[in-house]
Amino acid sequence: MASPPPSAPPARLVVLVSGSGTNLQALLDAIGDDPEGYGAQVVAVGADRPGTVGLERAERAGLPTFVCRVREHATREEWDAALTAATAAHRPDLVVSAGFMKIVGKRFLAEFGGRVVNTHPALLPSFPGAHGVRDALAYGVKVTGCTVHFVDDGVDTGPIIAQSAVEVTEEDTPEGEAALHERIKEVERKLLVEAVGRLARDGYRIEGRKVHLGHVGE
Ligand code: GRF
Repeated sequence: MASPPPSAPPARLVVLVSGSGTNLQALLDAIGDDPEGYGAQVVAVGADRPGTVGLERAERAGLPTFVCRVREHATREEWDAALTAATAAHRPDLVVSAGFMKIVGKRFLAEFGGRVVNTHPALLPSFPGAHGVRDALAYGVKVTGCTVHFVDDGVDTGPIIAQSAVEVTEEDTPEGEAALHERIKEVERKLLVEAVGRLARDGYRIEGRKVHLGHVGE
């Protein structure tokens, strides 16, 4: 799939969050007051629940926010349509799912397919799903990490944009999931900032499972 670079720099980002929003914050900090230099600006933040620290960060940054709760819609399809409409209203070039703990639906992917970036706290294709850190620890891996990838209609199965490794040490017991997740998140924030910046500045194309950064059209 060929994917165009953003219409005109800086690219417009809609960021979706569910929790503490430290990945969102990393993007906001990297952009700072120089969206042209970074290549992108956050134009809105969406969430699947109200009252999260992630939404507070967006409000503090003066950004428009929206909340789409599954429970406020009769069906998952209606929720997906509402999320699609709320996101589309901000005309994003890229949608960044930064700790957004919901699987987007068919409608959302039809509208934004090839433009939705997700970050996952494991080295995909190992340990997809909501418990990537816990599952990697339980498996006993010596190396785990994080993956920034495009979203397709599977669970954490889309083409990989970038990955970073994090070592698992003897101190990482199954009870230490939170501590390992924090170490992964330190690396993950940098990876996401770098990957989104490159997609926005340089353009990209997706060929099968392979993501080519930069030099679109060459
Ligand atoms: C990240 O590790 C993300 O990969 C996972 O949840 C975490 C979100 O962290 N799905 P934050 O809300 O950005 O702090």
